Amino acid sequence: MDETAQRVRAERFAALTRPLYRGKMILTKEGGDGRLKTLILNGSPRKNGDTAAMIAHLQAQLRGETKIIRAYDGKIAPCTDCRACKIKKGCVISDGMQAVYAYLEECDHVVIASPIYFSELSGALLSVASRLQTYFSARFFRKEEPALSRKKGAVLLAGGGTGDPVRAYTTASELLHYMNVQEIYPLICSHNTDRIPACKDEAVLKQIGRAAAFFNDAGEAASDL
Ligand SMILES: Cc1cc2nc3c(=O)[nH]c(=O)nc-3n(C[C@H](O)[C@H](O)[C@H](O)COP(=O)(O)O)c2cc1C
Repeated sequence: MDETAQRVRAERFAALTRPLYRGKMILTKEGGDGRLKTLILNGSPRKNGDTAAMIAHLQAQLRGETKIIRAYDGKIAPCTDCRACKIKKGCVISDGMQAVYAYLEECDHVVIASPIYFSELSGALLSVASRLQTYFSARFFRKEEPALSRKKGAVLLAGGGTGDPVRAYTTASELLHYMNVQEIYPLICSHNTDRIPACKDEAVLKQIGRAAAFFNDAGEAASDL
């Protein structure tokens, strides 16, 4: 890689490590059992792979409860563009996504975790994510604000080391936006897994610890980090 390409890559990485949304966001828990709730979308087919290791490390440090959706479980079908949600709230496909919609109405945090495939999120995760179209339809076709609580979010990526994670992160950020995530923690990416597995990537493990603190402290904003 020549010097200019290296500089451009370094600048893009630096941009990724800054929070996407700034400003204070105070989460207050009203109703329910008052426990923080985190939805984690896991785009890896490997049950004990790099993405799973990062998720486990985060989960171990998170307050409250977590719900993990594995895109490769096959319980969630892709959107078929039937267009029913242009007219009516929700989604007509009756499958595992219905529980995700319900959880999204009340959870505090959303984490997108995925291996990088061809510089993108994994295809299975994108397939699950296509079901978020109903929120797009709410805003742009039905002119309604989706009934989603305001959330904090984070993106965990694992990559063997080729290319860069910009495209995957951009896609993940857009998806978080659909789920009403107002603040996104700076990108966490173990991007050398061909040589160092994520579970031994000390820098990434530390970042995950800080992300857990960001989630656990309902008053802390990414701009304070
Ligand atoms: C189909 C496929 C495409 C991949 N594309 C990329 C890529 O574009 N960039 C990269 O850094 N790694 C790429 N990888 C490597 C994986 O992202 C890497 O091995 C990752 O750590 C796997 O995570 P997991 O164990 O959580 O599934 C690819 C792997 C596969 C199977």
